[in-house]
Amino acid sequence: MKAKQIRQQFFDELKDAKDFGLRNNRPLVTVAYAQSLDGSIASWDRSKLQLSGSESLDLTHQLRASHDAVLLGSGTALREDPRLTVRRGIEGPQPIPVILDSRLRISPDARIFNEPSRIPILVVNSDLPEKLMNDFSPDRARILPCRGCPNGNLDLVALLSLLVHEGIFSLMVEGGIQVITSFMALRIPDWLVVTVVPAMAGGLPALEGLGPRQPGCVRLLDWAWEARGEDMVVWTRPQWSSGHHRDRFETKRDCDESKSD
Ligand SMILES: NC(=O)c1ccc[n+]([C@@H]2O[C@H](COP(=O)([O-])OP(=O)(O)OC[C@H]3O[C@@H](n4cnc5c(N)ncnc54)[C@H](OP(=O)(O)O)[C@@H]3O)[C@@H](O)[C@H]2O)c1
Repeated sequence: MKAKQIRQQFFDELKDAKDFGLRNNRPLVTVAYAQSLDGSIASWDRSKLQLSGSESLDLTHQLRASHDAVLLGSGTALREDPRLTVRRGIEGPQPIPVILDSRLRISPDARIFNEPSRIPILVVNSDLPEKLMNDFSPDRARILPCRGCPNGNLDLVALLSLLVHEGIFSLMVEGGIQVITSFMALRIPDWLVVTVVPAMAGGLPALEGLGPRQPGCVRLLDWAWEARGEDMVVWTRPQWSSGHHRDRFETKRDCDESKSD
């Protein structure tokens, strides 16, 4: 299929995300990230690699504007202090930032709190003592307690169900490494939008330390790519089961119990 058709299919599915969310009790999930040609998404020391060119950065902002929420792990949120806003002249609503921060380490002064048109969701472990949450007034952040897994990570399947109850029907997962790895290990993503940039970086890949959680070699359906400036953008979706990719949600899955770090 041509990239234009697949892109259209992707944005059509996003328009129907509410139906999808109510039917499946979870949002439609897009994993979107940029990598160098050798597959690095971060430097060897987990610091940021500036990868995307100007045109593919525009696409990132367009993708943000097309999803109800944008999710990041605390690793990226603490290290990079991102704004997670729609900018670069792209029209559209500001998505709700969702930060996986089980121990609530983010600073109340972080830049995600500076956009007045939305209230970020900070997902914490439901065991977290309530007094630790007092730094955040409800008009600044929504603290969302979520069940933890035995390995200390948040239970993503439980979280997705909570997000539907928050009115989030489409979710863009921007990273970082551990978060993308967990979503893939649990076979959750509906769409992957991967930007490949003309650089070799010798850094860390998007999927790290899957070990026995490796889901085998997952085939990618509806694979198509297009140029954005000098970068290549791949639009695709994983084929998680032998049937249609959504069949898997009829099976109840457990927490991802392996260690991801
Ligand atoms: N190239 C790109 O497109 C791109 C995009 C984004 C990020 N990055 C890069 O990715 C790197 C950071 O990745 P990272 O692996 O260090 O951090 P990360 O994936 O951003 O965050 C990981 C943290 O999220 C929290 N978490 C809670 N539940 C989780 C779950 N179920 N699965 C996974 N994590 C969970 C954990 O911290 P708590 O214990 O605090 O909850 C965990 O340590 C940075 O270099 C950043 O620049 C690249």
